[in-house]
Amino acid sequence: MNRLRIAVLASGRGSNLQAIIDAIESGELNAEIVIVISDKKNAYALKRAKRHGINRLFISPKDKKREEYDKEIVNQLHKYNVELVCLAGFMRILSPYFVKEFKNRIMNIHPTLLPSFPGLHGQKQALDYGVKISGCTVHFVDEGCDTGPIILQKAVEVLDTDTEESLSSRILECEHKLYPQAISLFASGRLKILGRKVIIL
Ligand code: GRF
Repeated sequence: MNRLRIAVLASGRGSNLQAIIDAIESGELNAEIVIVISDKKNAYALKRAKRHGINRLFISPKDKKREEYDKEIVNQLHKYNVELVCLAGFMRILSPYFVKEFKNRIMNIHPTLLPSFPGLHGQKQALDYGVKISGCTVHFVDEGCDTGPIILQKAVEVLDTDTEESLSSRILECEHKLYPQAISLFASGRLKILGRKVIIL
């Protein structure tokens, strides 16, 4: 079976990128990262890609309109024949143009149980709200912010003693398992989107 050609877009440390790389290298995930793209020149994610011999690209957003910037990314994605785009801590909202170009072929991971606490600092939002259970979500990306159809979720208990750091780190452990699983389901053609629902075949 051909390996799924994926691109990972990341702005920061790239621990989810690393989890995807590890899942591929261990044979658990039948995919190939054909390009890692970052909007931050010094993103640690780019260093991780380099270490693993993966193509990588910094595309500067400076002085560019959102759609103009997204066009540059999309051109690269087409050039590399990307089949699935994985956002992993990519700190930009994609333009409708980008979403349309890769309709139902963009995934994101979010550190809460969506639709609760979308946007930035989800773990802190959950903690401040006082929920007893939080977790993480892998979803398809639509035009909204963290609003697309949900693929997989995993719950994490919130402890009375939790700080933002301790909760984030337990959630992150789950993220590292959940994201490769979701990609793997996509790679094997087992995800079917019906409106807001994602059916796992
Ligand atoms: C993760 O918490 C992810 O859920 C969120 O951004 C963070 C990225 O972390 N979207 P990393 O760069 O993958 O380590």
